[in-house]
Amino acid sequence: MTGVELLPAALVHAELLAGMHKICFADPWGADSLAATLSMPGAAGLVAVDGGSLSPALTPPGPAGFVLWRAIAGEAEILTIAVLPPWRRAGLGGRLLDAALDASRAAGAEFMFLEAAVDNIAALALYEKREFRRVGLRKGYYAGKDAVVMRRDLDTIGPSE
Ligand SMILES: CC(C)(COP(=O)(O)OP(=O)(O)OC[C@H]1O[C@@H](n2cnc3c(N)ncnc32)[C@H](O)[C@@H]1OP(=O)(O)O)[C@@H](O)C(=O)NCCC(=O)NCCS
Repeated sequence: MTGVELLPAALVHAELLAGMHKICFADPWGADSLAATLSMPGAAGLVAVDGGSLSPALTPPGPAGFVLWRAIAGEAEILTIAVLPPWRRAGLGGRLLDAALDASRAAGAEFMFLEAAVDNIAALALYEKREFRRVGLRKGYYAGKDAVVMRRDLDTIGPSE
């Protein structure tokens, strides 16, 4: 996807991230919770911006998606990842995930975990395509819905394709 830049997410973007989260999830995180997440030790994020600069308003051609992850003590975890509907199925989710994998590897993580609801076909397909393997099930993790826990080793591959 040409024209979409990945920029570092900062606390000042919390409202904007919350706006995107609300569009992408049935049980969205608010700005405070996203700011707290981004403030955790080892946490980082990227915002995908389609053209122009990252304005605080959630208006085109601005933000298209984002990813937050955490890499600490040799382990990494995707905290949340979302692509706004108009930008889906164009490789952006994969690009955000690859960037989180690369940054986590660079931070010394040896593997990455993530969770997805059992019926989240898009997310599960994306993660399996990126070689995450199912390692467990968390009962009732998402408002009564089970979550698949997935893991990928980071030391077995080079920088993402
Ligand atoms: C999951 C999500 C981030 C994927 O973003 P995306 O930009 O559409 O993903 P990509 O275009 O990089 O897709 C990469 C691959 O994932 C798989 N995939 C993505 N969406 C899919 C769908 N709706 N159905 C089946 N497979 C899908 C495909 O294999 C796809 O490759 P292809 O397009 O060449 O077939 C996006 O659907 C989203 O934001 N969903 C709502 C929020 C969410 O569920 N986040 C994950 C929480 S665990």
